[in-house]
Amino acid sequence: MAKLSQSPTDPAFVQDPYPFYAAARAQGPLHHWDEYGMTAAFSHAAVTHCLKDRRMGREAPPECAPAIPDRLRPFYEIEAHSMLELEPPRHTRLRRLVLAAFTSRRIAGLRPEIEALCDQLIDAFPDGDFDLIPAYANRLPVIVIARLLGVPEEMADDLLAWSNAMVSMYQARRTPEMEAAACAAAAAFADFLRGYVEERRSRPADDLITELIAAEADGERLSTDELISTCILLLNAGHEATVHATGNGVKCLLEHGMRCEVLTPDRIEGTVEEILRYDPPLHMFTRWIYEDLEVMGRPFKRGDRIALLLGAANRDPQVWEDPEVFDPSRPVKTNSAFGAGAHFCVGAPLARLEMQVALPKLFARCPGLRLAEAPRYADLYHFHGLERLVVARG
Ligand code: HEM
Repeated sequence: MAKLSQSPTDPAFVQDPYPFYAAARAQGPLHHWDEYGMTAAFSHAAVTHCLKDRRMGREAPPECAPAIPDRLRPFYEIEAHSMLELEPPRHTRLRRLVLAAFTSRRIAGLRPEIEALCDQLIDAFPDGDFDLIPAYANRLPVIVIARLLGVPEEMADDLLAWSNAMVSMYQARRTPEMEAAACAAAAAFADFLRGYVEERRSRPADDLITELIAAEADGERLSTDELISTCILLLNAGHEATVHATGNGVKCLLEHGMRCEVLTPDRIEGTVEEILRYDPPLHMFTRWIYEDLEVMGRPFKRGDRIALLLGAANRDPQVWEDPEVFDPSRPVKTNSAFGAGAHFCVGAPLARLEMQVALPKLFARCPGLRLAEAPRYADLYHFHGLERLVVARG
């Protein structure tokens, strides 16, 4: 196992992390990544194995749980009840409740609404060059998830601001100022939801918040803290990655000179899967090891951590022919963009639907769409999404 050094904030890496992944993977599936101080998995087989191995998980073993300084409490109090940070039995109970509400019928039923929303957003595009991220990629998923939960969509700007501040806690370039902003956002978000849930108790509707409130009333199934954390998780996870996946997708199609021909109803599913494989928006997640074990012949001890590089797994030549080539016509094989195993993305069907509607709609309505400046990725690793995507309608 080699020891690798690569700063996750190095500008060249932020713009294109794939050469580093390819060089690492060519030397073997697991390497020590110095900057993270832990072993990292670069191959599809190693990443998938770890995601599915129940002897690893996201929740720290009690003796390893880092002490939380008082100033960070508002943020970690929300995280403490978030299914994404938990393992069974709490994870199982929370995930089951959310999955019951995310039925394929409810998701598929959103299609006409998503189409209408795309049309409205495109109607409002400014003349001349403009940034497609705030005008389109950002708006669509935040409004959809707000409606699905039953939170007023006029709150979209607040939701975006709180969410952006909170997710900055997961990036390599975290600073004390970001931590303070994340804590303030977590507190404001929780305050809003506590007040809103109180008000909503007497106004049931056909939405997710009504179902979660009913589970909370039952007491056994959901505590009030879990209700608040679940809403925050869904609202944040429900748009952060989709924004970047949509932005990366538009960039990819424009740079490869591909548009309506790969977005037809018979090809759109394959094209979206290829976008998610080729340039996924989330590149790394970590796992704690719960018992002494081996991964690909290498020993790990309880309390070790391992980084799983989804972005590297998706370009593994053992699985995909010419993985560095963007080819929407390649046969679809399961990629790692949505993870795997117990924490597999709850929102995958929704994210796919949003992209399958938003991309064809955009190119059909704006057939001359072109890049007006070279797109740049934001310095937000392990997120991999664009800072700006300035386009012209042509
Ligand atoms: C293209 C867009 C998206 C991508 C690439 C993505 C990716 C992921 C990944 C990789 C994980 C697993 C993390 C891990 O194993 O440590 C995850 C979990 C999760 N995602 Fe997504 N996601 C997307 C959109 C969404 C949407 C639209 C929702 C809306 C509800 C959502 C909700 C969740 C939730 C609740 C979890 C936690 C699941 C659990 O812990 O059991 N995601 N997502």
